[in-house]
Amino acid sequence: MKIIDLIAGARPNFMKIAPIIDAFKKARNSGSQLRYRLIHTGQHYDRNMSGSFFEQLGIPDPDINLEVGSGTQAEQTAGIMLGYERVLLAQKSDLCIVVGDVTSTMACAITAQKLHVPVAHVEGGIRSGDWTMPEEINRMATDAVTNWFFTTSEFANENLRNSGVSNERIFFVGNTMIDTLLKNLTRLKKPPVWDQVALKEKNYFVVTLHRPNNVDEEENLKHLLEAIIQGARELPVVFPVHPRTAKNLEKMGISQNGLYTTEPLSYLEFNYLVQKALAVITDSGGITEETTVMGVPCITLRDTTERSETVTIGTNELVGTNPDKLKPFLDRLFAGKWKKGALPPLWDGKAAKRIVDHLERLV
Ligand code: UD1
Repeated sequence: MKIIDLIAGARPNFMKIAPIIDAFKKARNSGSQLRYRLIHTGQHYDRNMSGSFFEQLGIPDPDINLEVGSGTQAEQTAGIMLGYERVLLAQKSDLCIVVGDVTSTMACAITAQKLHVPVAHVEGGIRSGDWTMPEEINRMATDAVTNWFFTTSEFANENLRNSGVSNERIFFVGNTMIDTLLKNLTRLKKPPVWDQVALKEKNYFVVTLHRPNNVDEEENLKHLLEAIIQGARELPVVFPVHPRTAKNLEKMGISQNGLYTTEPLSYLEFNYLVQKALAVITDSGGITEETTVMGVPCITLRDTTERSETVTIGTNELVGTNPDKLKPFLDRLFAGKWKKGALPPLWDGKAAKRIVDHLERLV
């Protein structure tokens, strides 16, 4: 029997691990010797950011919760490393799987490798080149100590090869976040805001903002929101507010006609809204992948992306963080001239199975 740690810590991790757990269960039923141990670091801890995802995606309760909670980058990193090291010293595993690019990803990868536990990185290899984002530091540090890379795109494969990783360590498997989306498309659930605002299909915008660059400065956030509302031409703008953003929004006391804020939504409710929106305006990375798969126009308020395929193949456009740049993109949207986009290779709902098939051989 081989024990494989599966690490999850923050909201965008949960949809990435759900299909991997399903694939492990299926393999076990067919006689596989691989056993997973689910470790929640507790980076995100409340119902809105964590609990509802476990419930809706049928993720079993974690075997271990490190309960690190909120803190600065260094506090969270240190807390997770201390907690996970204790776990490994008590019972060493045969492999540590980390997903995505959050603090938990990096902290556990380093801790495992220092105790000679090999590391596999799901969504390895992607790069924005923007060192001001904590996620980019997490990606680079994680990949520096990763043995096996399970990648989502040719861009990722190329980045890894360019940094000297040999082909035998790179496994292009597709996107487990998209496995989850495709599996749940028929289960999406209308959120209460739909009736409260009397939303109509393809007649409203969804906005999400949580990057420190966009939301930590009150003036920036205000400027961005004003530009979005003005650009929306009186269509409703629905804004599920991330806790980080909520703090500043409260201080600003912004209440504009047409802006409807909600708590962070559950997975099924959020994607219901996205699927039926005219367009999404966001600074998230994962959402640009989901809009690409659902064929929904996506406007990204960042200067760079680590997910280039959402722009070169999908429905995403990089607008930058200057709100004045929004207008030409919205003009194109309202003129009905947004690109149609297509599915990136291997985003077919089978990534997690490919990962577990590889692990049968590797571990
Ligand atoms: C983290 C990830 C980011 C991911 C985002 C999704 C890192 C470096 N960043 O950023 O990649 O896109 O999650 O949400 O790992 N909070 C709550 N409830 C919670 C969790 C957090 O209220 O369950 C509050 C915290 O107290 C903190 C703020 O939200 O004030 C930010 O949380 P934190 O985990 O530090 O980073 P995120 O900005 O969420």
